[in-house]
Amino acid sequence: MLGRAKITIIGGGNVGASCAMWAASKELGDIVVLDIPNMEDLVKGKMLDLAECGPIERFDSSITGTADYKDIAGSDVVVITAGIPRKPGMSRDDLIQTNVKIVKSVSENVREYAPDAIVIVVSNPLDAMVYTAWKTTGFPTNRIIGQAGCLDVARYRTFIAMELGVSVEDIQALLLGGHGDDMVPLPRYTSVHGIPVTQLLSEDKITACVNRAKVGGGEIVKLMGTSAYYAPASGVIQMVEAIVRDKKRILPCAGFCDAEYGVGGYFVGAPCLLGKGGVEKVIEIELDGNEKELMNASISHVKDLVGVVREAFPELA
Ligand code: NAI
Ligand code: 2OP
Repeated sequence: MLGRAKITIIGGGNVGASCAMWAASKELGDIVVLDIPNMEDLVKGKMLDLAECGPIERFDSSITGTADYKDIAGSDVVVITAGIPRKPGMSRDDLIQTNVKIVKSVSENVREYAPDAIVIVVSNPLDAMVYTAWKTTGFPTNRIIGQAGCLDVARYRTFIAMELGVSVEDIQALLLGGHGDDMVPLPRYTSVHGIPVTQLLSEDKITACVNRAKVGGGEIVKLMGTSAYYAPASGVIQMVEAIVRDKKRILPCAGFCDAEYGVGGYFVGAPCLLGKGGVEKVIEIELDGNEKELMNASISHVKDLVGVVREAFPELA
C-alpha cells in the first residue's frame, strides 16, 4: 500500500477506542471509528481527544469519529468490535443472538461502503461472528479474519514469563482452536529464547499457565465486571500492523481452514501468515495424539456455534 493506510474500527466502545489508541501510537495510518447514531457525539469526542495526543505522542494521523458509513469508504482494514460484551456469570456464547444481528448489519454496510477492505472481526462469540461476517459480506476468505489467538497467546506468554521471572519478549508460543475456554495452548511449541519451556518449568506449572490462559477472559470479567479491552485491542493492532506494513508475520488468528487440520470449511484459530493480502497462508503444524484430541474438541465447539447461527438465521446458512 502506498501512502497512508485507512483503518476503520466499527464500534467505538472499550475495545474499539483502545484499538484506535494503539493504532495511533504506532502511526499505522488514518483512523475512522464508527458507532451507532446515539453514540455519535461520544465517539466524535473520544476521537478528537485522541487526535489531540498527536503533538505529544508525535503521530501524524487523521483520527475521526462518525456514525456515517460513507466515512469508511476506501478503508484498507475494517475492524469490527460492535456488539455487547459479557458480564460476570455469562459465557461468550451467551452473546450470540444479539451480536449476530449487530455483526450482520455492520457487515452489510462494510460490503457496501468498503468492498475492498480486509476485515478483522473481534465481536463475540468470535468464531460465530467471523462466520457471520464472511457469509454477509461474501468477501474471499483471505480477507476475513478473527482476532482471538493474538490475545490468548499473549495471556499465555504473560503467565509463563511471570512464572519464570523473565522478559515476556523471550517467550515464543503457539495456540490453536476457537476462542472458547477449550482453546489449545501448545506447551510442546512453547520456548524461552529457543529453549523448550519443558526444560525450565515443571509440568504442573506449565499446566497452571495453560489453564489460566484458557479462562483468562473470565478472570478479567470477574475483576472488572466487563470484558477486557487493552490486551484484546493490542492483539487486533498486532494483526493490523502485519497487514498494513505487509510484514508477513505468522500470528495465531481465526483463519479459514478447509483441508487444514481436517476442519472442513470453518474459521478456526491457527498460525496464519499475515500480509497485505490478509491471510496469505494458514500454516499446518504436526500435532500429537493428545493435541489432536484437544484441537478436535475445540473445532467441534466452533462448529456447534456456527450451527446455532445457521439455525437461527437461515439466510446465513
Ligand atoms: P463496549 O460495549 O464497550 O463497546 C461496543 C460498542 O459497539 C458500543 O460503543 C456500541 O454502541 C457499539 N455498537 C453496538 N451496535 C453497533 C452497531 N450496530 N454498529 C456500530 N456500533 C455498534 O464493548 P467492548 O468491551 O468494546 O466489546 C466489544 C465486543 O468485543 C464484545 O462482543 C466483546 O465480547 C468482544 N470482545 C472480543 C474479544 C476477542 O478477543 N475476540 C476480546 C474482548 C472483547
Ligand atoms: C476476552 O477473552 C471476553 O473475549 C474476551 O477477554
